[in-house]
Amino acid sequence: MKLIEKSEEVVRLTGGWREEGRRIVLVPTMGWFHEGHLSLMRLARSLGTRTIVSLFVNPIQFGPREDLAAYPRDLDRDRRLAEQEGVDALFAPVAEEMFEPEFQTRVSLSRISRGLCGADRPGHFDGVATIVTKLFHLMTPHVAVFGEKDLQQLALIRRMVRDLNFQIEIVGHPIVREKDGLALSSRNSYLTAAERQTALCLSQAIGQARDTVRDSSNTTSVADLIAGAIAFINAHEGCQVDYVTIVDRWSLAPGTTINQDSVMALAVKINGRVRLIDNGLLL
Ligand code: PAF
Repeated sequence: MKLIEKSEEVVRLTGGWREEGRRIVLVPTMGWFHEGHLSLMRLARSLGTRTIVSLFVNPIQFGPREDLAAYPRDLDRDRRLAEQEGVDALFAPVAEEMFEPEFQTRVSLSRISRGLCGADRPGHFDGVATIVTKLFHLMTPHVAVFGEKDLQQLALIRRMVRDLNFQIEIVGHPIVREKDGLALSSRNSYLTAAERQTALCLSQAIGQARDTVRDSSNTTSVADLIAGAIAFINAHEGCQVDYVTIVDRWSLAPGTTINQDSVMALAVKINGRVRLIDNGLLL
């Protein structure tokens, strides 16, 4: 596996692949790989003939209250793991390589950035859209793979690709979960054993809503499903609901009725310290 740090070099490499007629699949990441990332890499390998992973902790998607410096990093470990998955190249630039001191451009999506996680993280999704645009331009992939756990990020990137006519197919990978239902996340490593147990209430809240919806005698309204999930989570000590909502998985528009595309999405703070998100289809 090639490790690349320079933009010119990644342009040259992927340009060469294109000339050879390779189908390039990109997995954009911020590193600190867990099984979720490795599954994205496996899916990527099955979708093309060259797999490239980018590893870049993007400073412009962190807010002033979010600790960029504390974001976990271990390039050697990540490099080994990507290599074991048969990835062809890992693009891991330093921040100065991606952002010149004069950098001042933002790619900004209006409606889709606003609700859910966007409400609490102003500027975050502009930072994501901007870096993903840069990564797409540098590596010109045919396909890019993103996890469905970041529901809003995935919907935003799909929208951006359509709006800006990127000739790139966006593929979502289903959420990877522990046996007990906890969605994999780099942030799980911040949880104590007791907090990890408490954190199960996120997936359980979605599971309960889904059971209610799938019950054929169900007449529960969307508002009641949301209220039920909030009450369930709040009954767990140390859990503070950031939001619980039911939206269309593509547009993120709030739903008034439940259909095949209705997703319950939620964010919960555990002991005021670790903010976790999860989502799941209701039908
Ligand atoms: O999901 C992530 O890890 C990041 O938001 C992404 C897509 C790599 C952009 O920095």
